[in-house]
Amino acid sequence: MEKAPLFLRLVILLMQCLPIVPVTVSTTTPMVEVRENSDAVLSCDFRTEKEPNPRIEWKKKGTDVSFVYYEGQFRGAFAGRARIKGATVTLQRVTQKDAGEYRCEITAPHDTITLGETNITLTVLVPPHTPTCEIPSSALTGSMVQLRCMEQQSIPPATYSWYKDDKPLTPSRMANATYHLNPFTGILVRYFLRTVYIQSYH
Ligand SMILES: *[C@@H]1O[C@H](CO)[C@@H](O)[C@H](O)[C@H]1NC(C)=O
Ligand SMILES: *[C@@H]1O[C@H](CO)[C@@H](O)[C@H](O)[C@H]1NC(C)=O
Repeated sequence: MEKAPLFLRLVILLMQCLPIVPVTVSTTTPMVEVRENSDAVLSCDFRTEKEPNPRIEWKKKGTDVSFVYYEGQFRGAFAGRARIKGATVTLQRVTQKDAGEYRCEITAPHDTITLGETNITLTVLVPPHTPTCEIPSSALTGSMVQLRCMEQQSIPPATYSWYKDDKPLTPSRMANATYHLNPFTGILVRYFLRTVYIQSYH
């Protein structure tokens, strides 16, 4: 190699410099968050080395891996409810069942590296429903009561705010320790100094 003619050394150098462009697959939306019943765009961009007709497949990971898009068609729950442009997929009217991990796979048999993929996580947001509350109607002087409100359907999990006479009860007002509220569990504990009557609002 040391004595290789100059032109040969140049050719070798050139070959080392030439970029190998394998099939590359990427997404601009690795984490997609949309509200229930709206459309979710799962982007998938690819570039092939020389393959003119790469195969595009979309899969969804559940307990098993299932096909979303295969042989040019949307499958299963996605048939008639999705569009594809390039390799970017739009799922229409998504529900909680559509949440999960998706994979866009591009197969390019004529390329040096024949398979490329990218993963996308879809989260379907569910707005809070009216909470169920357990509220005692009265309390005795000096006793402690717990007011509980729960809502378990929302995604991400709901946080809770309490109001007294239309004014928000804020954690800073806990200073005089007549109540304690937890924004994450929806439990308000109130230490009563005198008998009061509580009304619940719906
Ligand atoms: C996509 O997820 C699969 C597992 O589900 C993993 O094997 C693969 O490495 C991931 N690909 C990328 C590009 O992150
Ligand atoms: C806390 O104490 C302040 C005065 O120190 C009083 O004005 C306020 O009403 C008290 N808050 C509650 C919730 O009892």
